[in-house]
Amino acid sequence: MLGERGPTDGRPAEGRMAGRVAIVTGARRGFGRATAKRLLEEGASVALWDLEEAAVERAAMELAEIGPTLGLGVDVGDRDQVQAAAALTRAELGPVDALVNNAGIASSALPWEAEEESWRRHFRINADGTWWCIQACLPDMRERGYGKIVNIGSLSAQQGRPATDPAYPASKGAVLGLTVSLAHNLGADGICVNAINPGYIRTEIHDAFSEEQLATLAADVPLHRDGIKGGGRPKDIADAALFLLSAESDYITGEFLSVNGGSRTGS
Ligand SMILES: NC(=O)c1ccc[n+]([C@@H]2O[C@H](COP(=O)([O-])OP(=O)(O)OC[C@H]3O[C@@H](n4cnc5c(N)ncnc54)[C@H](O)[C@@H]3O)[C@@H](O)[C@H]2O)c1
Repeated sequence: MLGERGPTDGRPAEGRMAGRVAIVTGARRGFGRATAKRLLEEGASVALWDLEEAAVERAAMELAEIGPTLGLGVDVGDRDQVQAAAALTRAELGPVDALVNNAGIASSALPWEAEEESWRRHFRINADGTWWCIQACLPDMRERGYGKIVNIGSLSAQQGRPATDPAYPASKGAVLGLTVSLAHNLGADGICVNAINPGYIRTEIHDAFSEEQLATLAADVPLHRDGIKGGGRPKDIADAALFLLSAESDYITGEFLSVNGGSRTGS
């Protein structure tokens, strides 16, 4: 659904993303919604993609008061759906300049409880989904010699973490491998590929986690905010994504940006 405003609404776009077209996956809530909002505030047109169609259309309508939006129901693990959504995004908003691969799932199962189905589902959404979305955007980016891709990885892919189904860090490790490989191979096309590795930030992804599991995750965060450990917010990820999508990071590619309140210090 196209947000109520037209692509420029007659106003010259201003800001660090002025004139850019961005896709944010998993954008109905959490980090994705915060990122879509931040990019709109900086002048981008934003396609919000999410599995939950009604919710993402609602989010797109709400954010349309800031700038041009398009809300689409897309399962990023389904390559055909991703290709169709990319074509629709291009037709409504224009060629894609920026992609934030944020859609993801996490299970609260402990390693000895984890099932094969969980392993397959994590890879289908977190890893395959990231790759399908990149593939769908590459033709626009390569043709114009410009593109910015941000993949949302996870601190858990870089160091062991308690309270984690191993399928989650393993699938995020695939995302980090994709990031460095593509950065290496797409630099000549003017395409930057970076990852953000968030640490624990309480969102609805943790709804199935026990209080004990959440306390264990929060206890690992050195920085306090508002007097609490683990006080990171979705906007912290949105601000990092904005930096990696804007001209300020044009000579940065293949990097992992940690946004974790110091949970992984000195590395
Ligand atoms: N919150 C954290 O502590 C944390 C830490 C590290 C990494 N991450 C990663 O950040 C990203 C966003 O997490 P969040 O905390 O905002 O969680 P969230 O659950 O609020 O958001 C994830 C979004 O992805 C969507 N989604 C799930 N499966 C999808 C599919 N197949 N196709 C399209 N959309 C799909 C969901 O509907 C949801 O809107 C995820 O990739 C997550 O793994 C989160």
